[in-house]
Amino acid sequence: MPPQTAVQAAATPQATEDYMPLNGIDHVELFVGNAKQAAFFYTRAFGFQLVAYSGLETGARDRASYVLRQGRIRLVLTGALGSDSPIAEHQHKHGDGVKVIALSVPSVDDAWREATLRGAEGVVEPHAISDEHGTVRLATIKTYGETVHTFVERGEYAGAFLPGYTAMSDGSEDTGMLLALDHIVGNVEHMDPWVKYYEDVFDMKEMLHFTDEAISTEYSALMSKVVTSGNGVVKFPINEPAEAKRKSQIDEYLEFYEGPGAQHLAVATRDIVATVAELRRRGVEFLDIPDAYYDEVPARVPEVQDILADLRAQGILVDRDDDGYLLQIFTKPVGDRPTVFFEVIERHGARGFGDGNFKALFEALEREQDRRGNL
Ligand code: FE2
Repeated sequence: MPPQTAVQAAATPQATEDYMPLNGIDHVELFVGNAKQAAFFYTRAFGFQLVAYSGLETGARDRASYVLRQGRIRLVLTGALGSDSPIAEHQHKHGDGVKVIALSVPSVDDAWREATLRGAEGVVEPHAISDEHGTVRLATIKTYGETVHTFVERGEYAGAFLPGYTAMSDGSEDTGMLLALDHIVGNVEHMDPWVKYYEDVFDMKEMLHFTDEAISTEYSALMSKVVTSGNGVVKFPINEPAEAKRKSQIDEYLEFYEGPGAQHLAVATRDIVATVAELRRRGVEFLDIPDAYYDEVPARVPEVQDILADLRAQGILVDRDDDGYLLQIFTKPVGDRPTVFFEVIERHGARGFGDGNFKALFEALEREQDRRGNL
């Protein structure tokens, strides 16, 4: 195949051709110890709807996968059916964690060619899978740790998820609380090579640059850079631990995940007060925020004065940047290990990630870390 982007670039030298157009995040697949029970947790606690399944009954021999939907978010929960499975190996090492961040692309073949040309390590070459509902093209490349990106080209595919999956319902419904993935954060030992990876391979741009001064307390610190796709739809903050008196939250993750991996999935909501109240009612646990945090909120973000009591009652954090403000909250880790968690975010113009809240977040996280004896 001819190097199409080079040809086009030559024709219009000024054009800033996006060689890696991304439609968005197609799905996120977690490898877990017990997919059936994880599906129960994410449907009942987080308000997802079970929509598809793959397992022994559908011809899969090594795994069971449950596909959940809420708004535009698609989570796939996959567990192993035998001890010699790479899924079991992954779960044994990392605990429950994100294996695949799948990206919807216009052309899997183009995405694969451009990515591998620019230094991405391939895992699975472009291939088609089909069933009576149509054909989907897929290819997979590596990213940080054992995490991978799968390119997905759905075309006109009309099945429940992917060929090999059957539509399934368990009575759970899309509660409409969570609308879309806002960003997915990776924790790594050294962020700069991974920022460069996303710049080179995905043509992403660095969006903001936090320093360890901005995101630190006396005892814990991190550094973070955010890369974003050309259309701004896909945002990947990358964290690394920074020097502090005691172990950083990122170090704790790296220790218990036994390597780099996805730290949190941030999901957008339209009404964070109602959403968090409902998630709490359903059993989701959130980080405790010191009450004193709210004393300074009206001065920082006067727009939220009217709902301050609700924000305080639910433990929702508030931050602002030049473009507006945002409301956010972090769950406790969703598994046994202090690794993966969720964020719920409601944006009012702000394009940042709540760096003004890092100090409050850190203080909250450190209290949790201290209780686990890991500070
Ligand atoms: Fe976040």
